[in-house]
Amino acid sequence: MKILVTGGAGYIGSNLVDALLSEGHEVHVVDNLSTGKIDNIQHVLGHERFHFVNDSILNRTLMDRLIAKVDQVYHLAAVVGVKYVVDDPLKGIITNVTGTEVVLQKAYKYWKRTVIASSSEVYGKSTDVPLAEEADRLFGPTTVPRWSYAMAKAVDEHFAYAYANKGHPVSIVRYFNSYGPRLDPKGYGSVIAKFITQARLGQPMTVFDDGGQTRCFTYVNDTVRGTLLAGTVPEAVGHVFNIGSNRETTVLELAQIIRELVGSGSEVQQIPYRNVFGEHFEETRRRVPDIRLAAEVLGFRAETPLEEGLRKTIGWFRQAWPREKLAPGRSDLAGFFEPSEQELGAGR
Ligand SMILES: NC(=O)c1ccc[n+]([C@@H]2O[C@H](COP(=O)([O-])OP(=O)(O)OC[C@H]3O[C@@H](n4cnc5c(N)ncnc54)[C@H](O)[C@@H]3O)[C@@H](O)[C@H]2O)c1
Repeated sequence: MKILVTGGAGYIGSNLVDALLSEGHEVHVVDNLSTGKIDNIQHVLGHERFHFVNDSILNRTLMDRLIAKVDQVYHLAAVVGVKYVVDDPLKGIITNVTGTEVVLQKAYKYWKRTVIASSSEVYGKSTDVPLAEEADRLFGPTTVPRWSYAMAKAVDEHFAYAYANKGHPVSIVRYFNSYGPRLDPKGYGSVIAKFITQARLGQPMTVFDDGGQTRCFTYVNDTVRGTLLAGTVPEAVGHVFNIGSNRETTVLELAQIIRELVGSGSEVQQIPYRNVFGEHFEETRRRVPDIRLAAEVLGFRAETPLEEGLRKTIGWFRQAWPREKLAPGRSDLAGFFEPSEQELGAGR
């Protein structure tokens, strides 16, 4: 098949591209390289079944042309993660709402099966764990920009359902903390990148508050497999699926596992949220997916054990970010994860 991956130069998108090429498909990517990297797709640039356009999903003429000529669309392009959305809320909202609207409008026009990437963020502060696809969601006020990412993804889902209501074949995947090779060291899910870099450099591994908050870290091969199932299983059409592992890990436990796997002597240091994000920061204490629907309809279950996935990810970091590249002056990555005096609460 001919398949369009929006955001295909990104972390998950480029791993999806590899899987699609290995299945024999012809793959088209549109990505404006805002957080995506040419390094992520360098190895396939000369591939006869791979085509790349460096442009925005907001370019309606381009999207019309691209979607007209493919059989299927995986829509992953987005301004991803709370940090970027807080830095520039307007860009985040326009990309994540209008961009998805453009993709869905064109996919509907040419009647192309579509998968929309959503996020576990849409559950907000819900404590109704495990989080089920049809459960209620809970958010903070609109004056707090962090919630605009979750809201935009929720609007995307409403858009998708509105088109599904017209019979269009569309499915939605809600990703839970994906990690693995090509993870942007400074991007979404960076707690794993942060701990790996801190452990490799022997810096303190900084855990927010008591480190008792939990996440379900999901290896990228599982994330990709769930996405492909959502795009191919006939019964997936018109539904939303949690795509994630259900192994619940505290951030403190994660730090300890990574320290051991790296073979590091780093100390684990606790930092109050308020030192980093101010007084009014709201964090989700537990984020655990209900995995029953994905298992029943898609036959999906995350399979990669955390330790194995982390070992592979650490191996990739060692190769992509060799120690020389982490030396002061060679990149700002080492310094990026070093806690500031303020974060450590100096003088308090
Ligand atoms: N990584 C996770 O754990 C996670 C969790 C939940 C949801 N998601 C969703 O998965 C998708 C992929 O995320 P990712 O983690 O790979 O992040 P990523 O930042 O690596 O990927 C997003 C890609 O979209 C591209 N992009 C941004 N704006 C664009 C535009 N206007 N036009 C074209 N391309 C544009 C970026 O350059 C990047 O390559 C996103 O939709 C994200 O919201 C990811």
